[in-house]
Amino acid sequence: MKTIKNICCIGAGYVGGPTMSVIAFKCPDIQVTVVDINAERIKAWNDTDLDKLPVYEPGLKEIVATARGRNLFFSTEVDQAIDQADMIFISVNTPTKTYGKGKGQAADLKYIELCARNIARVAKDDKIVIEKSTLPVRTAQAIKNILDNTGNHVNFEILSNPEFLAEGTAITDLLNADRVLIGGDSTPNGEAAKQALSSIYENWLPKERILLTNVWSSELSKLVANAFLAQRISSINSISALCEKTDADVDEVAKAIGLDSRIGPKFLKASVGFGGSCFQKDILNLVYIAKSYGLEEVSNYWEQVIKINDYQKQRFADSIVSTLYNTVSGKKIVFYGWAFKKDTNDTRESAAIYVANALLEEQAEIVVYDPKVSDQQIYADLDRLNTRSEEENRRLLTVSKDPLTCVDDAHAIAILTEWDEFKTLDWETIYTKMLKPSFVFDGRRILDSKKLNAIGFKYSRIGES
Ligand SMILES: NC(=O)c1ccc[n+]([C@@H]2O[C@H](COP(=O)([O-])OP(=O)(O)OC[C@H]3O[C@@H](n4cnc5c(N)ncnc54)[C@H](O)[C@@H]3O)[C@@H](O)[C@H]2O)c1
Repeated sequence: MKTIKNICCIGAGYVGGPTMSVIAFKCPDIQVTVVDINAERIKAWNDTDLDKLPVYEPGLKEIVATARGRNLFFSTEVDQAIDQADMIFISVNTPTKTYGKGKGQAADLKYIELCARNIARVAKDDKIVIEKSTLPVRTAQAIKNILDNTGNHVNFEILSNPEFLAEGTAITDLLNADRVLIGGDSTPNGEAAKQALSSIYENWLPKERILLTNVWSSELSKLVANAFLAQRISSINSISALCEKTDADVDEVAKAIGLDSRIGPKFLKASVGFGGSCFQKDILNLVYIAKSYGLEEVSNYWEQVIKINDYQKQRFADSIVSTLYNTVSGKKIVFYGWAFKKDTNDTRESAAIYVANALLEEQAEIVVYDPKVSDQQIYADLDRLNTRSEEENRRLLTVSKDPLTCVDDAHAIAILTEWDEFKTLDWETIYTKMLKPSFVFDGRRILDSKKLNAIGFKYSRIGES
């Protein structure tokens, strides 16, 4: 088995950055270079001020501080890093297609193909190429074809090694992964490549947690894992709507069913809806793949998970409008939270974007406070929807750096992200600053309803009448 001395990772995003930092941290004898075409991102990864890293994850900056400059490097020299590496991870984005066949569902593989062509052009000795990005089942075949047909006649072994980290807990997830999945060919070269990758993870994970499979099972398992996780959220969210009509309490229902060991307690928290760059994209991809194999029923089944999620976001916005006497025009509504979940600065597909958009359509005036998300990001998220002009987005929505001053004369506060700090805000003071009646809409079910009602708020939350 070849000993891996030099790793290159193409893509310094939310997966490439943290994943490679942990590999470098745990394997000081391996040189790890993370490359990206986005020079600004690389500059941020190299910033001496570790609070300016482009990805915020608890524990990440400490790991980067230890490994960066020792055996962890961030660079824009893509070709050089490919040339020097024994093993190349592809960790670029695979967004939903916005054009052509499969528009709105299929994964856009243009970035993956560019990487494959780049590797083929540069590589002058044998390489192990690893799909870290989430990809449609059978993509490894396409990568192999490109590498073999456009390469310099060196041997490429393709492995699938999907990433299961969750943003917000990326570092603990990487350090204590439930499992690592490695899919590859069962040829001698394929087996050797799988062992080479496995030996890297064995530096910190028990061997039993490293699953070796064929490539297609590995590629498909990632999509299926995300589909099952998102399905649980949509399942409990669909029940939250029923709870609101029947005086049942969705947390009590979740607890009662979660104690059944066949169901289990995790991922049963009702909320304003899931977000993040992966769940929706990966389910749509699954929907598209099933449809393309003529499996219409399978495709429709999984699509329903997305429909319930959209319904949940719309329902939350609708309930704000109807509770505020059927009009929010000109009313100040404060959003606590914009990130798609706590402990991350990632806003991709965040429920907040869609709830804001729906309320702006009703001419509400929104003020956003999020402890980790920048103004530019918030406006970029809204502008991307193309619902109204950029000027109008900036006129109707403002961003605040202070959760207390921004509530002056507000009609309502909506909790969009479950940041812990919202639980310990000075709610008595907040109440005194708001217009009366003062409404709080808790889309994450994190606040103490008894306390807020006692203060005088009109408090409501998803999943309770
Ligand atoms: N974010 C998550 O929580 C998560 C979890 C598991 C898996 N994934 C999957 O991992 C993949 C990457 O996700 P991400 O969130 O890190 O994306 P990201 O957008 O944060 O990062 C991708 C990076 O790749 C770079 N890139 C694109 N093409 C390139 C090229 N040809 N050469 C060099 N760099 C290039 C981009 O500039 C970008 O910085 C996706 O397939 C995603 O589905 C993501």
